[in-house]
Amino acid sequence: MKTIDKKNPNVIVRDYSLTGNESQRAIKMGLADAEWYRTPIDKDKMNELLTRKNGPGIRDTFIWFGLIITSGYLFYLWWGTWLAILPYIVYSVLYASTSDSRWHESSHGTVFKTDWMNNVLYEIASFMVLRQSNVWRWSHTRHHSDTIIRGRDPEIYVRPPRISKILLSFIGLKSGIAEFKRLILHASGRMDPQAATYVPNSEYSKVFFVARIYILIYLSAIGLSIYFNSILPLMYIVLPKLLGSWLMPFYTMTQHTGLQENVLDHRLNSRTVYMNRINRFLYWNMNYHIEHHMFPLVPYHALPKLHELIKHDCPTPYSSIFNAFREIIPTVLKQVNDPSYCIKRILPATANSKTADAVIHFTGENSNLNDGKIKVCSVDEIDLANVVRFDFDEKTYAVYRTANDEYYATDGICSHGKTHLAEGMVIGGIIECPKHNGRFNLKYGTPARMPVCERINTYNIQIIGSDLFLEL
Ligand code: FES
Repeated sequence: MKTIDKKNPNVIVRDYSLTGNESQRAIKMGLADAEWYRTPIDKDKMNELLTRKNGPGIRDTFIWFGLIITSGYLFYLWWGTWLAILPYIVYSVLYASTSDSRWHESSHGTVFKTDWMNNVLYEIASFMVLRQSNVWRWSHTRHHSDTIIRGRDPEIYVRPPRISKILLSFIGLKSGIAEFKRLILHASGRMDPQAATYVPNSEYSKVFFVARIYILIYLSAIGLSIYFNSILPLMYIVLPKLLGSWLMPFYTMTQHTGLQENVLDHRLNSRTVYMNRINRFLYWNMNYHIEHHMFPLVPYHALPKLHELIKHDCPTPYSSIFNAFREIIPTVLKQVNDPSYCIKRILPATANSKTADAVIHFTGENSNLNDGKIKVCSVDEIDLANVVRFDFDEKTYAVYRTANDEYYATDGICSHGKTHLAEGMVIGGIIECPKHNGRFNLKYGTPARMPVCERINTYNIQIIGSDLFLEL
């Protein structure tokens, strides 16, 4: 059923809710949780990019927190004078705008090699950017599965286009009001119906708990302000959202705004925008957004290198934020009257015409089946800390060799989505899925990191002579 815009009867309103008709339509059309295009990359080069490190994340997080603490302290010192405005601008922007990219990158678990550091940064940045940590972890998982698919993606930036909402996003009100409503709902023990479409039931109690903690912190700030008869506590915790959110839309609007919806190719629905070093530090290289969506396992500090590897296969990057907005603003203005209008990005002549298989792939022959065992490959055809795909008899498997030279085999497809684990990364005795960074224990097939909730089957591997055999 078509819905007509009440203010403008010529406009047919598109339904972006997660519980409406478009959602059902996306599922029927095979757009939900579908397979997306990925540029083939040499496995060795990819492994180099995937290497997790603590160094860059620790350095950049120290600088970031150092700037926040210094500007916050100067603001305190100069409070009551005009001079205080300057450090407060820096403090509030770092607090409310740049926490977005720290939240984002740590949600993927790729900032640090050490996992607890990712989790600590994620919880702190979630609070600063005002996103309930577990709700938004699941929301972002869906955003990566179904990027700007109508009725599926909960993180589409202001659609249908409303100029008033876009302007409100520069003072943090667009997301702030919506998130506060959800906070109150969740703190009262009720789940938001839209969020219920992507947050599993088993997570509800954590969602309610985190909402109550956030509310407690906000109430404490209000209480301290009343007690000390000073607005300072609110200036540090509540008001940055209003006064420091203005930088965030300059970055985030470049990601997907105005691009094609319902296409299964990140080259067509995401932008890569060249930015200077300061913006890249503040935004943690998320300007390489096609690269990030295509390969979310690659840490932020390796995205410039990834860009060099795949740029021949992607549309021309935008030369600056200004250049991207020269396209975004007229597009959004047109979409107000014509929601079907969008920018169609052109792939270069050097782009791959079809997806090649970037994964090392073996296929079993019936003639190699012996006593319930099927030959996969020879031992040295799998590198240390690596994984290959093995197909036999209409089933697909992933066969692993760890850095300690142990061999494992599991079902090939991740239990969370339709992604082959052979495209993932082996970390110790764990496989990390390439799509949403979910993890499985290789020995038992048990979930080792969200969003994975269900285990996968494991299989025995035997080494006979110099060959690997999978026990079926
Ligand atoms: S498809 Fe989501 S974690 Fe594997």
